[in-house]
Amino acid sequence: MHDKVLILDFGSQVTQLIARRVREAQVYCEIHPNDVSDDFIRAFAPKAIILSGSHASTYEDHELRAPQAVWDLGVPVLGICYGMQTMAVQLGGKVEWSDHREFGYAEVRAHGHTKLLDGIQDFSTPDGHGMLKVWMSHGDKVTALPPGFQLMASTPSCPIAGMANEEKGYYAFQFHPEVTHTVQGAAVFNRFVREIAGCKGDWIMGDYIAEAVTKIREQVGDEEVILGLSGGVDSSVAAALIHRAIGDQLTCVFVDHGLLRLNEGDMVMEMFAGKLQAKVIRVDASELFLGQLAGVTDPERKRKIIGGLFVDVFKAEAEKLKANGQGNKGATFLAQGTIYPDVVESGGTKTKKATTIKSHHNVGGLPEQLGLKLLEPLRELFKDEVRELGVALGLPPEMVYRHPFPGPGLGVRILGEVKQSYADLLRRADAIFIEELRNTRDEATGKSWYELTSQAFAVFLPVKSVGVMGDGRTYDYVVALRAVQTSDFMTADWAELPYSLLKRCSGRIINEVRGINRVTYDVSSKPPATIEWE
Ligand code: XMP
Repeated sequence: MHDKVLILDFGSQVTQLIARRVREAQVYCEIHPNDVSDDFIRAFAPKAIILSGSHASTYEDHELRAPQAVWDLGVPVLGICYGMQTMAVQLGGKVEWSDHREFGYAEVRAHGHTKLLDGIQDFSTPDGHGMLKVWMSHGDKVTALPPGFQLMASTPSCPIAGMANEEKGYYAFQFHPEVTHTVQGAAVFNRFVREIAGCKGDWIMGDYIAEAVTKIREQVGDEEVILGLSGGVDSSVAAALIHRAIGDQLTCVFVDHGLLRLNEGDMVMEMFAGKLQAKVIRVDASELFLGQLAGVTDPERKRKIIGGLFVDVFKAEAEKLKANGQGNKGATFLAQGTIYPDVVESGGTKTKKATTIKSHHNVGGLPEQLGLKLLEPLRELFKDEVRELGVALGLPPEMVYRHPFPGPGLGVRILGEVKQSYADLLRRADAIFIEELRNTRDEATGKSWYELTSQAFAVFLPVKSVGVMGDGRTYDYVVALRAVQTSDFMTADWAELPYSLLKRCSGRIINEVRGINRVTYDVSSKPPATIEWE
């Protein structure tokens, strides 16, 4: 049984970062809405509780409070931003509204030699005060400490930037220790969950395999499982893990929609059918997909068609399996590579309002339609944990540390109508770009540009421009190269790739891919652009 930390979410954009910090300290944690019941909290039996920030800036606008059980349980509590404000008010202090919003970098002075900050600092002032470099984002602030609390941190504009009641193990910060801009954030979380709350550091992916395998075996028993293998990280790791647990009781269905990257299908087959010796059915459905996409230019319609067809093809395969008895009685479980961020987002607290910019959930509703039970062995894991698990399971790091690839594949990277000939050109241009990124190292960090970017790809623009090659005039298509850096894919900066790298890419693409005579580089950040072009 793992020690558990409960994170109550008041609707901050960065609550997931809190969970990631706790997990980095090798402690298991879960995020739940701030309004869960007292009974829920008691049953969860956390060793510590963390109260998140909130998306709104004004404390007074909210009626969001921490449930009473938080204060009755007798476990350490860490309040962050809004979490600090509600802690202050609920325990008898005061919060005041302020029209002066503080946002961004701040230097915070530590006070009172609390256990939480003892020995943790970025620098000290000439008169010996420990200082932290942090990220602040707030309007309101605590103006009176609750009884029993002492000052833990301050800035000139926020005199109570941190407070503590060490007897109870209650700590709070007005700033955000969970974001990477707060340099000592990881140290602070580590101190809180491991030392103050006394959690064991037993959340380690290499060790987790045995636990996950046992759980899968218990859940599946002697039944059969099917899984839609896409070649992406999540479905690959799920497949490898389930295969480790139940071997041939798993059948993977790999639908090749014809919109994959160069040689991707063969690589997936080599790994799973070849190396892992798993049962994999490869369905070449490219004609079907391209046929249905003919003449369709609207991005959302393209997504819907691809998502819908994927479900149809997958369903047909599942039924076939059942009919020809390959899976004995046929599968009763559908495995999916759902990961924790998907669970938290779709769970949704009352405070969260998400707007749909693009419909990303490509295969929703599949289990119900197929009448299958769900098996989601990665549901508790963050992406970095899924990757670690993949490596521990023996998947090649190039597969596990791959950039994300959208479900509709090249379908949303060919602007407007999707055609086989466009896809063929794009695949080759894209492969050259990725190869160059992998082979070019940044001198300062020693890392490849593939590692230094979060997502990189080529986009096919169905417009022709004039060029000259040898003695002749060309009139060919354009590709745009896109490379971004981001930590969460919600916002992203275009990557400042070296000119020499871009030059090599454009030279090679234009020379090697007949049909493309112009290469551009996309210098738009998100927002206002999105990462994909459609
Ligand atoms: P955007 O373009 O919205 O992309 O900035 C953010 C991230 O989501 C990926 N993406 C998709 N993934 N189905 C997917 O599975 C989709 O329809 C889809 N559209 C965008 C995109 O590649 C990026 O990582």
